Amino acid sequence: MKTENNNQRGFWGSRLGFILAASGSAIGLGNVWKFPYIVGENGGGAFVLIYLVCIFIIGTPIMLAEFTLGRKTNLNPVGAFASLKPKSSFIGIGYMGVLAGFLILSFYGVVGGWTIAYVVKSVTGSVLSFTSPKEAGAFFGNFISNTGETLFYHALFMGVCIAIVLRGIHGGIEKACNILMPTLVLFLFLLMIRSLTLDGAMEGVAFYLYPDFSKINGNTVLIALGQAFFSLSLGMGCMITYGSYLSDKENLTSSTFYVVIFDTMIALLVGMVIFPAVFAMGLEPAEGPSLVFSVLPTVFTSMPMGHVVAVIFFTLLAIAAITSGISLLEVVVAYFIDQLGWQRKKAVLIVGLAIFIFGVPSGLSFGAMADIKLAGMTFFDHVDNIASNYLLPLGGMLTAVFVGWVWGTKNAHEEIEKHKNIFKFPWAQCWEFLIRYITPVAVGIVFLAKILP
Ligand code: PFF
Repeated sequence: MKTENNNQRGFWGSRLGFILAASGSAIGLGNVWKFPYIVGENGGGAFVLIYLVCIFIIGTPIMLAEFTLGRKTNLNPVGAFASLKPKSSFIGIGYMGVLAGFLILSFYGVVGGWTIAYVVKSVTGSVLSFTSPKEAGAFFGNFISNTGETLFYHALFMGVCIAIVLRGIHGGIEKACNILMPTLVLFLFLLMIRSLTLDGAMEGVAFYLYPDFSKINGNTVLIALGQAFFSLSLGMGCMITYGSYLSDKENLTSSTFYVVIFDTMIALLVGMVIFPAVFAMGLEPAEGPSLVFSVLPTVFTSMPMGHVVAVIFFTLLAIAAITSGISLLEVVVAYFIDQLGWQRKKAVLIVGLAIFIFGVPSGLSFGAMADIKLAGMTFFDHVDNIASNYLLPLGGMLTAVFVGWVWGTKNAHEEIEKHKNIFKFPWAQCWEFLIRYITPVAVGIVFLAKILP
């Protein structure tokens, strides 16, 4: 199956292309929209510190494990586990990943659609006439409850992802990320300078960088760990899929390092854009999920060159969402290409359309279907909850167990050291210890804490 479909699968054109594409998957709404608002809600600096610990001792080892599985097998998550341990129940990790990709993209596409809408609305200036965050919040609430408008932008977001994934790995995904990712970094630097030179910005910097541990409790640690997973695109085989398009020559350890550093740097940069601005405007850092959409337009409105800043910011957010959206779509598509032998075109069109249709009730969860709730949660909340809080942690933990104990770190080592790449002391020993003991136990605790009342 592996060879006959290789022409349908494709490979990365260069090492940099791979690193940018994997970073493009990692960097998304998780960094630009979610990271600042949960830092704001959880007390600032101390939360950032805990998040960084989770990234380095849990996220990084799992990312290397996923890249290694992908490159070893050249397959999607289902095929990867099936080929290394045929007929075992570990194949279930792969199915869970494909399912998680389907579910996450179905609601991610909705929020992605909002970002495209805000690009358009900031170009026309309609989100730039607010005198208070309250007004901006009401405008946002009005927008997300409008069925026709949100459906249109949701479809547009999915259409863009489908168009890019249709062109395949080298032509589509890699080319898009080559241009988009460096632009993102450049714009963030510009915005950071703008933010830091506002009157009163330093108060925001202090909130963001000064760790006040009195604001930390057990739940904060769980939130930080979950965010590390979501932000690095781990636990659903996304990095298995991206690793599967890598050639044997590439150095997996340094690629992992670059992707983790890049993702973390962007999240930290976004914080340096948001918090100085929020404090300079005398706004609340604990605004919640509406922070970006309802508070920032007020900030932009009262800023010199606010119109330009708004257009750039929402463009960044849309770009980041698209490069993550395509990675989610690719996971599901790769399964149909590898396991069921479908042509790429057929797989992308059918899967993309199915994900969009399944996402429609999520899109309506803020308007027409807002009152249809099960256990107090809307359709959107349920899909997000099942995928992000159950499937990702479970998938990540089982992947660590699989690589650490079932397939074995010895085999993983061999794969990592192909083509004279040396997995140096003490990093190799460190990784082995983390992936076998620390990672599964830590993620197990998060998972249990979520399912136990
Ligand atoms: N990492 C993406 C973000 O931070 O927005 C979201 C994501 C993409 C999660 C791909 C999982 C995934 F497989």
